[in-house]
Amino acid sequence: MMFSIRDAQVSDIPGITQIYNDAVLNTTAIWNDSIVDDSNRIKWLDERLKAGFPVIVAGDNQESVIGYGSFGDWRAWDGYRHTVEHSVYVRSDQRRKGVGKALMLALLDRARACGKHVMVAGVTSENTASIRLHEDLGFKVVGNLPEVGTKFGRWLDLMFLQFTLNKKDATR
Ligand SMILES: CC(C)(COP(=O)(O)OP(=O)(O)OC[C@H]1O[C@@H](n2cnc3c(N)ncnc32)[C@H](O)[C@@H]1OP(=O)(O)O)[C@@H](O)C(=O)NCCC(=O)NCCS
Repeated sequence: MMFSIRDAQVSDIPGITQIYNDAVLNTTAIWNDSIVDDSNRIKWLDERLKAGFPVIVAGDNQESVIGYGSFGDWRAWDGYRHTVEHSVYVRSDQRRKGVGKALMLALLDRARACGKHVMVAGVTSENTASIRLHEDLGFKVVGNLPEVGTKFGRWLDLMFLQFTLNKKDATR
């Protein structure tokens, strides 16, 4: 399948909203219960870009959004400024075609270009697809927090995986 990775624009928002809401309703990838509207995602895009973080999309030949990814601060305190946490979502009818991997490789490049040192993935422990995707890229499992979340009437465990982007020193 032909697709390309590019920076998200406001015109991509309906596609992003649809993918986000599908993950809310049908998966434990997002620990939210409520769907959102386009204005919610426009605000999110705006906040990410203003903070200097990328939002990227995978677009097919027709320019439809078939996946998206982004990263932002992992934790709010100054000492965490070299670490980011990302998210990646692929439209349900386009999975297992290499889109998630392509988005992840682009996010790793963008995080390096931003001068970041570590990228963290917080993944529901039952999300085998995401864990495999991350491990294939070289992410290492660094922790598992049992029963820290709930959705669909059951407890969820949160697994953290991390990727060290470079050997930069900690002087800045
Ligand atoms: C996780 C997700 C982003 C993967 O995207 P994708 O485009 O389907 O993944 P790719 O086709 O690039 O797969 C790359 C590798 O990941 C692993 N993988 C992907 N889906 C998998 C699955 N269902 N089961 C096992 N391994 C899987 C495989 O190792 C795969 O390589 P292979 O196809 O050569 O075997 C996608 O399933 C998704 O959007 N899921 C719902 C949202 C979500 O869970 N997001 C992550 C939140 S942390």
